[in-house]
Amino acid sequence: MKVVRIVHTTQENKSKIIKEFSRFAREYNRHNVIQSEVAKQLVQYLRAKKYPVIIDIGCGSGEIYKNIQKNHIFFDHFVALDLSQEMLQMHPSGAAVKKICRDFNATEASTSFDTQEEALLISSSALQWSQDLDFTFSWLSGKTKKAYFAIFTSSTFETLHQVAKIHSPIYTEDQLKQSINKYYNAMYETHAYKLHFESTYEMLNYIKKSGVSGGEKKLTYKQVKNLIKEYPLNYLEFEVLFVEATSCRFV
Ligand SMILES: C[S@@+](CC[C@H](N)C(=O)[O-])C[C@H]1O[C@@H](n2cnc3c(N)ncnc32)[C@H](O)[C@@H]1O
Repeated sequence: MKVVRIVHTTQENKSKIIKEFSRFAREYNRHNVIQSEVAKQLVQYLRAKKYPVIIDIGCGSGEIYKNIQKNHIFFDHFVALDLSQEMLQMHPSGAAVKKICRDFNATEASTSFDTQEEALLISSSALQWSQDLDFTFSWLSGKTKKAYFAIFTSSTFETLHQVAKIHSPIYTEDQLKQSINKYYNAMYETHAYKLHFESTYEMLNYIKKSGVSGGEKKLTYKQVKNLIKEYPLNYLEFEVLFVEATSCRFV
């Protein structure tokens, strides 16, 4: 598999999504090529070299944590929140790391860690699974002043969705921006990625195990057969919205 990145400057059912991540948790690290690239990119946006607290929403197996370490960014406490117990188990542990198993779509997540203006909130490749963007960004914006998000947009798998005649289950770039703008002053960048494959079969297998399609309605046998025959590209398309945000609540 080969990743090519192009930079443009400028709901499913919760249990289904978590089941998919948990089912493939051990294999996740071998199939998260794009998410890994996205987390690396998101950490590049951080401006400070030291934070009292870093809170990672939908932390998975710790791509953000690992990149923060690699970039010599320091913290006193690291809060790793994820709804999948299996993913949390794979997240690095330590005296400074607090793991919280909560659903960011539920009110209980908002009370599971302290509000701290100076803390940093970060979330990479997870918030596309928000069931209600206004609910999610409303409570997140009440927790910290600075936040960084990387969120997959509906242009991910665009051609595949067209060929299979299905709608993307995730939000458009505009829907994401509209909701974020209600709670944050934000700067945006969209990055497009291409992931090359030897065959369409390999491509479909990747989608299944990467968790990118988490909870997406299963294609019928006929749809899969048609996809393998008709898919015109030897790569998958991904689009990610990068957000550097300052909460309106703390201004
Ligand atoms: C594609 S992975 C990304 C993981 C990690 N942030 C990274 O960059 O590799 C998405 C993560 O979000 C978690 N997740 C999805 N929906 C969630 C929810 N409603 N509440 C909490 N975590 C959720 C999944 O369990 C999974 O670990």
